[in-house]
Amino acid sequence: MKKKRNQAAVLAGSLVIGFVASVAAGDAWAQVAGQWRDAQHVYSKICANCHEIGVGPVIKGRNLDPDYYQSVVRHGMRAMPAFRPTDVDDAMLRQVAEMLSKSPAPGGAK
Ligand code: HEC
Repeated sequence: MKKKRNQAAVLAGSLVIGFVASVAAGDAWAQVAGQWRDAQHVYSKICANCHEIGVGPVIKGRNLDPDYYQSVVRHGMRAMPAFRPTDVDDAMLRQVAEMLSKSPAPGGAK
């Protein structure tokens, strides 16, 4: 358990470094340091597969708390599978949560 946590922390740390580097050095860097470019990338490659097609409920524009997104993603929720830190690490998941929490509803005013 402790070992897993440490691995997650190392992964999260390297992703933060990768993210900062990608902001400084441009997009190509991010592909080397981590699999995700940004929160929108995660959303469109994972969440949208269910949440934009009616398998899961709309999760944009609902003023949901970022902590709620994180908790549902980590633990799953009935038909929704849980995602591990090896899928999306904590730092990136936080960005996804913040983005979705602030995002307008699909089809609404952008
Ligand atoms: C395999 C399909 C699938 C994927 C991928 C998926 N979800 Fe879900 N999600 C669901 C389903 C289905 C529900 C509804 C669960 C229920 O209520 O039974 C749900 C529910 C949720 C809820 C609760 C919504 C509410 O009304 O309370 C949140 C928040 C959420 N998902 C966030 C995410 C995020 C963020 C991602 C991407 C990291 C994601 N989900 C990826 C299927 C998915």
